[in-house]
Amino acid sequence: MTFRGKHLLGIEPLSSDDIRSVLDLSDQYVDLNRGPVKHSEALTGLTQINMFFEASTRTQASFELAGKRLGADVMNMSMQASSIKKGETLIDTALSLNAMHPDLLVVRHPHSGAVNLLAEKVNCAVLNAGDGRHEHPTQALLDALTIRRAKGRLQRLTVAICGDIAHSRVARSNILLLGKMENRIRLIGPPTLMPAQIDQFGVEVFDDMAKGLEGADVVMMLRLQKERMDGAFIPSEREYYHRFGLDAEKLAHAKPDAIVMHPGPMNRGVEIDGVLADDINRSVIQEQVEMGVAVRMAAMDLLARNLRAAKAEGVWA
Ligand code: NCD
Repeated sequence: MTFRGKHLLGIEPLSSDDIRSVLDLSDQYVDLNRGPVKHSEALTGLTQINMFFEASTRTQASFELAGKRLGADVMNMSMQASSIKKGETLIDTALSLNAMHPDLLVVRHPHSGAVNLLAEKVNCAVLNAGDGRHEHPTQALLDALTIRRAKGRLQRLTVAICGDIAHSRVARSNILLLGKMENRIRLIGPPTLMPAQIDQFGVEVFDDMAKGLEGADVVMMLRLQKERMDGAFIPSEREYYHRFGLDAEKLAHAKPDAIVMHPGPMNRGVEIDGVLADDINRSVIQEQVEMGVAVRMAAMDLLARNLRAAKAEGVWA
């Protein structure tokens, strides 16, 4: 195991060996989760607190399940009902929770960089469950695991990421991860939804689905992140679906065995055709959700090992 991190804040600082370590351990947790006794003792005695300042279904549920399956004491903070509403700052809330001796803090926040800031203030391991449009590392890792299991490798693949790239932390973390693993990355979407200076990321950019999907092994669709848009970025959802929504006809430009991915929540008929999303011969969307639990178990297990080692050495009080 090479992953020596104190926190998991993003894909950016990880090496390709770190990524492989997490994925290899995740494979073991997939087996555990498919077996009769979905339980291990990896986090026994540890306390995990989930703080979600933004709505979440899959990510929060899978972090909770992951912690419970590893034997941690898991607490979900209801951030809607918390003192944040009374004006307490993120840092004050974090410091109060820190005083209760958590070992793992799982944080989702609408502001890019908020989770990194919080990690500097507490003395436990922090996992970023999505910060603004910055990073969503466990999503990129679960996507990587899904791809590696479906394609048998995570190198030399052509991966098309389509839709609202500009507002998507999922796209950003995936671009970083897939780039580190030496894949060819294509971004497809309207110019209004492409981040500025995207060419610095070593990707190819298209505004035409047919051209961008040509020969793709993996087609990753993204939701329009309306909550992060100020103003109109597309003429209409109908027009958007016509040009950028994935259906069987557009998918025919990709390789015949190309897989279809979506992190959820999905808007059927906006970025993806509902029938295609449910087609188990092409879509791996449900596998992504399954892999999410295993990846979060692996990430928390590795961070807990590092935490215990650091405490044993007296490096981290
Ligand atoms: C993503 C997120 O929250 O960034 N969802 C998720 O974690 N499964 C993508 C999205 O909200 O569109």
